[in-house]
This record gives sequence, structure tokens and C-alpha cells, in this order.
Amino acid sequence: MAKVRNEFELKPNPKSGRYRLISANWKMNLNHLEAIRNVQKLTFLLRPADYSYTEISIHPPFTDLRPLQLLIDSDRMRFRLGAQNCHFEPSGAYTGEISAPMLAKMSVSHVIVGHSERRKYFGESDDMIRAKVGAVFASQMTPIICVGESLEEREEAQTEARIRSQVESALSFLAPELAERCVIAYEPIWAIGTGVSANPTDAQKGALIIRSVFADLWGTGVADKVRIQYGGSVNPSNAAEFMQLDDIDGLLVGGAALDPDSFARIIQA
Ligand code: 13P
Repeated sequence: MAKVRNEFELKPNPKSGRYRLISANWKMNLNHLEAIRNVQKLTFLLRPADYSYTEISIHPPFTDLRPLQLLIDSDRMRFRLGAQNCHFEPSGAYTGEISAPMLAKMSVSHVIVGHSERRKYFGESDDMIRAKVGAVFASQMTPIICVGESLEEREEAQTEARIRSQVESALSFLAPELAERCVIAYEPIWAIGTGVSANPTDAQKGALIIRSVFADLWGTGVADKVRIQYGGSVNPSNAAEFMQLDDIDGLLVGGAALDPDSFARIIQA
């Protein structure tokens, strides 16, 4: 079993043996005061059993990390603190950037790497994404690597080729002990922020492609351990059908995670 710090007494999925992970990607939303209110309200809405069912990570903007770290620590909240990005160098002349060691020092445990918005708007290349995965592991954190095809690639039946090349280029350098600790978020680009989610069949297919690339690179032992999230227009009404899929272990939620009510309902679904 891929190692998960288990001070929260998480229960693995009895079917797969894998720990579930539901993550909130706030993107560029909520200032630090709004962030505190949001997390306090989420805590109020969740029941103790919700935290044993799934690991929950919250990925706010960088400016919210320190206040949320203090809140989570002081109130012993059972959330993982996450980041949305990091630089691949530990320090240096990179104006405006934040490094992985800086995040780790602030108790960040999970870092999203290679989100399609970073690839599209900030020109993140496969090489940069590979370097960031290495940087996240070097700081003892867990990368959540985003992969997924565009609408054009889907229409041209390029989904499998696209996912395969993204996974291979980001991760093929990893030793198996690190590969099995990765979290992969399957986020079809056409489903992000559109209100049109993938259907469960497509999500399961995407997850199977990812597992087969892992099996080719490191064998089925590692492929069975890696955790795969689905992301793209997840909401309280469709969350359960993704969580029931054999090869989906969690969700990466954007818009619906900004509202504590709807994020709590997604976790409870
Ligand atoms: P939405 O849930 O808003 O579609 O965003 C998904 C996403 O990009 C999460 O990383």
C-alpha cells in the first residue's frame, strides 16, 4: 500500500485497498479572511465519519497557506494542506515564484503539478512538470499530477495517446517506491469549469489508461497502488457515481469546492 500518513485513522477502500483523497483546488479565489471562514464552515458541516472515509486536501492560493496552517494546527482539523503549484528549484533568482521546500516548511503535504490551466496560460512544458514532480518528492510531499485530453484530442480519438505521453513524460524517471506514492488527477480539459463532466464510463476508461501506463513502466504492483482522482465539473449530484468506480480513488474539485456546503456534500456523497 502506498504510504499515507495515517494519524487521521483513515479507512482504505475495502475493494481496492487504496486510501481515498478528495481535494479542493480553489484556483485564484478566496483571500485569507475568506479562506479562514470557508474552512471553519467546512469543519462545522463535516461529521467525524467523513474524515475516516477519505483524506481531504485543501489547495488555496499561496497567500492563504500560512493562516490556514495556523488554523488547522491550532484547531486540530483533519485536513491536509495543499498547494496548487511550486517552482522546480529549491531557491534562486526566480522572481515571483515559491519553492517546494518553502511549502513543506509550512506543513503543505500535497502539491498539484501540471494543471491544464498552468500548461495553457503559463506555458508549463512536460520538462518543467517532470522537474516539479522531482522537487515535490525531494521535499517529502505528494504530487497530484494532472493529465487529460482536450476536446479536439478526444474527437480525434487521441485520448489514450495524450494521457500516455503526459504520464510517461512527467513520471518515467521515478523509482517504483516514488511512482506508487503519486496521485494522478484525470482531468479531461473539456470537462473543467464547463459544467459538463465526463460520464462515469469515460472517467473509468481514463483511469484504466493511467493504470496501464503505470503497469508498463513499473509493473502491476505499482499500478494497483497509485491513486487516481477524477476532476472536471464535479458537484454534489455527480460525486458519488465517480467515487463508486473501481479505478477512481478520489476527486479534484474546482468550482464546487469554493462553497463549503457543496464541498461537504461532495465528501458526504
Ligand atoms: P471544476 O471543478 O471547476 O470543473 O475544475 C476542475 C479542476 O480544474 C480542478 O483542478
